[in-house]
Amino acid sequence: MTTAYAPGKVILFGEHAVVYGRPAIAVPVTQVRACAVVEDAPSGQGSVIHATDLNLHHHVGTPLTADDPAYPLEATVRHTLEWLGIENMPDLTLTVSSTVPIARGLGSGAAIATAIVRALAQHLGRSPTSREVSNLVYQTEVIHHGTPSGIDNTVVALEQPVYFVKGEPVQILRLEQPFWVVVGDTGIASPTKIVVGDVRRGWQKDRDRYEALFDHIAAIVLRAREAMVAGDTTRLGSLMDENQGLLDALAVSSPELERLISAAREAGAMGAKLCGAGRGGNMIALATPQKAQDIAASLREAGAVNVIISEVKPSQPV
Ligand code: PMV
Repeated sequence: MTTAYAPGKVILFGEHAVVYGRPAIAVPVTQVRACAVVEDAPSGQGSVIHATDLNLHHHVGTPLTADDPAYPLEATVRHTLEWLGIENMPDLTLTVSSTVPIARGLGSGAAIATAIVRALAQHLGRSPTSREVSNLVYQTEVIHHGTPSGIDNTVVALEQPVYFVKGEPVQILRLEQPFWVVVGDTGIASPTKIVVGDVRRGWQKDRDRYEALFDHIAAIVLRAREAMVAGDTTRLGSLMDENQGLLDALAVSSPELERLISAAREAGAMGAKLCGAGRGGNMIALATPQKAQDIAASLREAGAVNVIISEVKPSQPV
């Protein structure tokens, strides 16, 4: 039996603009995680996937439509076996579970796929590098999101704070000191594919305005990278606020997100913004360790259905 885990993630800066070649910064969130367990099965069974949270039981090879929840799971299995050079479906049972909320900007799809790739590859005798895992998970992200930037699979597979530009080698951020974030969930599921599609339609109608907004976000990300590495949380907080203003201009914020963002700021957050695709999902606030609990309580009062306090730790060598 082989078990593998993968964390959730939050995008600290640069979502949406990252799809258009601008940089973004994301960090892992280890308080939530996906788990995949692979076990040998009786000869002739083939591969069976159980997703306990979705009450899903799927025999790999049974016909599926692209909107079936089993589709990305089966695709992940197939891509991994292809990468391993295994042509015949092995006899095994794969059980997947996850505490990463779905469609809330915390990288649920990437976390599940990462855990599957790792558990399956290890069970079949290979240990892929984090970058190999990330590349395989990217193929699943395409199924979930259509035109993903690749940031989710990168940060989840590497489990490190990353500075990411699509198509370029990823940079792992070497932080001087840890910092704390409070993540608040609006309770509204917001599929990334839909919001990314809306932004694309806006960009197609008014390229100059959207390109200018993306450039402004890119400038914030560069300043945020410096502030993060230097441990300048005051600057980091005001850059988050500035990034939020631009996400609002892209029409990806929502009254629920704005309510949580205001509540966090009023409770002493150094800065706050939505994280991920927006419209619903989660927001993130930068906190001192002393203020984190107060901010979490204010978020709950303001309607957050779930709150996570997470320490962003200096990176480990990979
Ligand atoms: O909703 P999430 O966490 O999957 O984040 C999506 C981030 C976007 O920049 C909006 C899309 C992408 O592919 O990078």
